[in-house]
Amino acid sequence: MRSIFSCILILFIVLPLNVSAQDVRVGDAAHGIFKYDDFEKPAKCRSCHIDIYEQWNQAMMSVAYTHHWDEIEYFELAVKHGEKDPKMKPVADGCNGCHAPLAFFAGDTPPPRPSENSRANESVSCDVCHTITGFVGDIPHNFNFISKPGKIKYGNRDGVESPEHTTQYSDFIRTADFCGVCHNEKNPFGIWVKSTQIEWKEGEYSEQGVRCQDCHMPGAPGRNAVMAKEEYDDVAQHLFHGAHSPAKLRGSVELRIHPDTRETEPGMPVVLKAVLHNAKAGHKIPTGAVEDRIMWLNVEAVDSKGRKYHLAVDEKGFEGEKYTIASDELAYQDIGEIMGIPDFKGLPRDGVPVGDRIFRMAYFDPKGRMTICQWNTASLGTDYRIGPRETKIEKYTWDLPDDIPEGKVTVTARLYYSRLVNPVSDYLNVPEDEKEHVLINESSTTFEIFW
Ligand code: HEC
Ligand code: HEC
Ligand code: HEC
Ligand code: HEC
Ligand code: HEC
Repeated sequence: MRSIFSCILILFIVLPLNVSAQDVRVGDAAHGIFKYDDFEKPAKCRSCHIDIYEQWNQAMMSVAYTHHWDEIEYFELAVKHGEKDPKMKPVADGCNGCHAPLAFFAGDTPPPRPSENSRANESVSCDVCHTITGFVGDIPHNFNFISKPGKIKYGNRDGVESPEHTTQYSDFIRTADFCGVCHNEKNPFGIWVKSTQIEWKEGEYSEQGVRCQDCHMPGAPGRNAVMAKEEYDDVAQHLFHGAHSPAKLRGSVELRIHPDTRETEPGMPVVLKAVLHNAKAGHKIPTGAVEDRIMWLNVEAVDSKGRKYHLAVDEKGFEGEKYTIASDELAYQDIGEIMGIPDFKGLPRDGVPVGDRIFRMAYFDPKGRMTICQWNTASLGTDYRIGPRETKIEKYTWDLPDDIPEGKVTVTARLYYSRLVNPVSDYLNVPEDEKEHVLINESSTTFEIFW
């Protein structure tokens, strides 16, 4: 009797769980499953979580839909591509799964333009993240997170009480998988066009238990809400600072340069070596939107009379290396096809001094040309980025000119970062701030010329 009773009980417990597991719709299947009103506005959370709100408010995730470059790429390229090629329509809708989750869940795609001030503008809001309960599948990617909007806000602490909402402790929100649901992306060609969490997992920080949260939302003493009962010594700061924060980029790669001789003569070769070490990032640099981002090393010498010499990097001879040495060849021809511009020849590939080493991974369109359209990427080039705690050495062989004057030569290596290759930002009229060349690090060395 007892066992029959417990069987029935088990059935009751198990059945609804199974049913709801089948009902859980994530990723593309979550299009249109909720209403905008199911989610609360960040302004409401602000009334009690002021510091957290103001931190989030100046982070990129609060403008993931409204930010100028996102608006341009989404409306001028992705949506247009979807109109031309029906296969691309769901892909363009899918941009919103990560950039404007409320609009995606409401089935409102494409959402109204940012200037129309719709709730799509809330971007990756408080309530998007704090109602995520897990993800479906083996690898977090392509917004495969489970969303349960409502009174329960999932957080990193057990048993905290709020007058406004219920709170529930969540193991999941404390993991890198939580971030991976949007920071890994596989495109319609099956290419991993974003893999920040995967890079992290393959690196040593994951083994050591250093999570995304530890570097992007470090814990500091204080209260997490104005009326919180107690102070904690590790309140998660919602900084989410990344490549749009020069202070986060600065020093992320350490840099030193040295010559193979300290005293030499005109006409002789000098070999300089630059050593670069990714000391600060838990993933590769650049990571994320790698189709847009480049980091490059510029090496310049100045002789005793102030004359300047630009030094080109020595080739290493690996496959696909040409994409890692700056050139002025043309690329990005798919922009012309997508935008319907006749006779579009392409844009200069790099926009940085020819011969500089570029740390990047090239994205290629179905015709094998470099592209910044991640959804239109059919293959990837050699991955020449700097992994977590990885060190790379670049060599510069310089045959000194016969007329180089006597005295001290100073050689300076400068490592720069750009969020969007400049010929593309110029062509698409992306505002100036996205063009910024951020100096990550700088190092100088000297040697003497004797006649
Ligand atoms: C991108 C996802 C994301 C967004 C957006 C976000 N949070 Fe969080 N929040 C987190 C994560 C992750 C943690 C836990 C961090 C950890 O485990 O170290 C957290 C922790 C918190 C905590 C507890 C802090 C503590 O340590 O006691 C509060 C309160 C909170 N968030 C409120 C908010 C509010 C309010 C907003 C909007 C202004 C917001 N969050 C936006 C992901 C997010
Ligand atoms: C009326 C004030 C008030 C409002 C409005 C409010 N909260 Fe809270 N919230 C609190 C208090 C108080 C706590 C408990 C703080 C503590 O003691 O740790 C809390 C806790 C939390 C936690 C739990 C953090 C943890 O440690 O696990 C999360 C997550 C959270 N709030 C998110 C939100 C979000 C998202 C919104 C907006 C949709 C919001 N809150 C609106 C007062 C508020
Ligand atoms: C719901 C999707 C989503 C989740 C979950 C999410 N992110 Fe993001 N994140 C985004 C999007 C979209 C952007 C791009 C914003 C933009 O358009 O520039 C972004 C941008 C960022 C940036 C800024 C990058 C820059 O260019 O400066 C950082 C840092 C970041 N996220 C960290 C995190 C961390 C850490 C977590 C986990 C605690 C997380 N994100 C969870 C969607 C998400
Ligand atoms: C050990 C510290 C550390 C860890 C762990 C870490 N990051 Fe970062 N992250 C950084 C630093 C430093 C930068 C700035 C350099 C750069 O852009 O790579 C950065 C940059 C970023 C950017 C901006 C990249 C861009 O191109 O705009 C994103 C997005 C990001 N991190 C997300 C994550 C996510 C998601 C995780 C976890 C899977 C994570 N980070 C883990 C330190 C860390
Ligand atoms: C799986 C989630 C996801 C999807 C789907 C997605 N993105 Fe993103 N997107 C991100 C994240 C995360 C970042 C930030 C990465 C970084 O900073 O390096 C980002 C960055 C960007 C950026 C660069 C923003 C900047 O400020 O530099 C643009 C533009 C962009 N996405 C447009 C799109 C378009 C258009 C689509 C659809 C074709 C799309 N995204 C689909 C997650 C996503």
